[in-house]
Amino acid sequence: MSNVFVLDHPLIQHKITHIRQTETGTKDFRDLVDEVAGLMAYEITRDLPLTEIEIETPVAKMKSKVLSGKKIGIVPILRAGLGMVDGVLRHIPAAKVGHVGLYRDPETLKPVEYYFKMPNDISERELIVVDPMLATGGSAADAIDSLKKRGARRIKFVCLIAAPEGVKYLQEKHPDVDIYLAQIDEKLNEKGYIVPGLGDAGDRLFGTK
Ligand code: URA
Repeated sequence: MSNVFVLDHPLIQHKITHIRQTETGTKDFRDLVDEVAGLMAYEITRDLPLTEIEIETPVAKMKSKVLSGKKIGIVPILRAGLGMVDGVLRHIPAAKVGHVGLYRDPETLKPVEYYFKMPNDISERELIVVDPMLATGGSAADAIDSLKKRGARRIKFVCLIAAPEGVKYLQEKHPDVDIYLAQIDEKLNEKGYIVPGLGDAGDRLFGTK
């Protein structure tokens, strides 16, 4: 699992416990997903390059580091991925945001893109693809296929909860993509839900059923 990073900081674990609970309502669920995404942004951006500049403190001149301005794109997979965008953006406000929406045609089983809008320079950006749940791995792999077809070269995938099946599938399909997650659950059930999971992340974020 060399390209899988489990971000199991106590603050993240605490918040994930509340996210999972049935009694957590829409507002709290949304706020917690946003907070966890923000905490995860910390680790995901650990390898951002820095450059040294000359500054002056009230006491002395010194050299100090700032981000070297690497271009970043955040790509939520519609619709649940939207819940993670603001949390990540809070830490990297200069990032651009692209959106991808797709479903599997039930007859051909081929992915159908119903929405795809990216910044026009995705080949120069590091893309952070976000979706709270990595279940079968099908939509994550298909979304990443779509991005690579348009020239994306550097991609990270970030989710809150993953099923082992989804991690394996995504690793097989895209071994070059690092996967960041907070917790790996037991399995998928026959309906494709992660067990124990948290239910349908999109419905819980947006208060739909
Ligand atoms: N998507 C969800 O929102 N929940 C799951 O358990 C699996 C996929």
